[in-house]
Amino acid sequence: MDYAIKTGSVEHHPGSCLILGFYQKRKLPAATLAQDEALDGLISRLLKRDDPAAKAGDILPVNHLPHGSKAERILLVGLGKEGELSAKDYRKALTAAIKAAKDCGSELAVCALPDVTVGEYGVEWKTRQAAMIFEDGLYRFTQCKKSGEDNNKPPKLKKTVFQFQSDEAETEAGNGLNQGLAIAHGMELVKDLANLPGNLCTPTYLAEQAEKLAKQSKKLKAKILDEADMEALGMGALLSVSKGSRQPAKLIVLEYKGGEAKQKPLVLVGKGLTFDAGGISLKQAANMDEMKYDMCGGAGVLGLLQIAVELALPLNLVGLVPATENLPGGNANKPGDIVTSMAGITIEILNTDAEGRLILCDTLSYAERYNPEAVVDMATLTGACVVALGRQPSGLMGNDDALCNELLQAGEEAGDRAWRLPIWEEYQEQLKSNFADVANIGGPDGGAITAACFLSRFAKKYHWAHLDIAGTAWKTGQDKGATARPVPLMAQFLLNRVK
Ligand code: BES
Ligand code: MN
Ligand code: ZN
Repeated sequence: MDYAIKTGSVEHHPGSCLILGFYQKRKLPAATLAQDEALDGLISRLLKRDDPAAKAGDILPVNHLPHGSKAERILLVGLGKEGELSAKDYRKALTAAIKAAKDCGSELAVCALPDVTVGEYGVEWKTRQAAMIFEDGLYRFTQCKKSGEDNNKPPKLKKTVFQFQSDEAETEAGNGLNQGLAIAHGMELVKDLANLPGNLCTPTYLAEQAEKLAKQSKKLKAKILDEADMEALGMGALLSVSKGSRQPAKLIVLEYKGGEAKQKPLVLVGKGLTFDAGGISLKQAANMDEMKYDMCGGAGVLGLLQIAVELALPLNLVGLVPATENLPGGNANKPGDIVTSMAGITIEILNTDAEGRLILCDTLSYAERYNPEAVVDMATLTGACVVALGRQPSGLMGNDDALCNELLQAGEEAGDRAWRLPIWEEYQEQLKSNFADVANIGGPDGGAITAACFLSRFAKKYHWAHLDIAGTAWKTGQDKGATARPVPLMAQFLLNRVK
């Protein structure tokens, strides 16, 4: 969709719908008040008559405007109690607004919601959020729908204008819009890659997409390591996972140079399991289709590098995505097998379904060569994380408090929260193996934590944080689909690093 920023009073354009806020007790924000006056008190009369609760996200459509008004309709959006609109409720209002605008059939939306007061948040943040939420609300995955009518019908809505009363808002709103759209475009890439099924989105396909991305900018280079390269590097853990599959593994390396040459890079690592059947420790059949989403962390890395390119972020970044399938082929890992990682640490594979940590550990070792400022990995790593935290926050673990706090803060700002779990030394006990240096599972207790403890052994040489996105990267059930989380969190983290 197209977007624009306008300042001054809300204009009526032919075929438009106006998206205006209202508070409890018929209190109105400035833009709505101005429209109410222009329409001879139509809005306040309606609110008086219907007396709606005005909970955040409640929609009151005004489908008939007086003769002579060019706009088609007004969508009044509840904002709760005046002066108390929280970031969470602001997002809720925006989510409801874009849904109603999409469904109402107008081609143009003029939306004054980013002009309302949201705590201490500024115009840039409010506009960034609005652009992200609107684009998210309009996302559709249609690549694999070739016939059928409604499925392919795009919404009529073509353009949204974010409207601010004061001219002073223009610059900040423009910045917020650019950032929000760049993040949204990155998220669209992530959702497209993630929703694509495992037979189409293979490790090779992911690698090709990374190469395509690198063509967009001179600052971005892609290098794809194949299995022979990994062999030469001694990546025995990573390669042991791909052995069970006919698809060759790829280690995607993306290097983005937007900062000064001597500036140490931030390394972003993403789990790229294009399908996780569990291997010989085969998963149960129910919902196994969702294991096409086991590459969401890897897709997130591609999305974040696209965002860096689009915003020309003055940072140095490295993206590392180990991509493979985990299938029970004749050459697959067997429970009890012992492999040697690139770090030289031997690993007893007690459960072949704990494969994410096997491909990540060698990638974390590979990250050392960049002498990183910090390393953040994103991985749909454990079902245990979903048990511990549900599907609201991503799990956060790491070896550096400052880095973890930065990520928690970015998640709050972006509305894409994480919650930290401890990785105390005591938990390492659970990973003891009778036959190798370490086991790849730590028993039934604290599974998200022991997975991170495993990774921590390979991340000792730098500041490192791990986001377990098993509960957040996609939605299950009726509206199954990728969410592109934790891209909002991570994009905010990168923006904060620029400041
Ligand atoms: N990709 C899965 C984790 C997962 C499972 C994410 C379900 C989202 C939903 C991972 O590779 C896995 O299978 N983990 C095992 C680890 C266990 C064997 C220690 C798990 O969580 O069951
Ligand atoms: Mn698994
Ligand atoms: Zn997995």
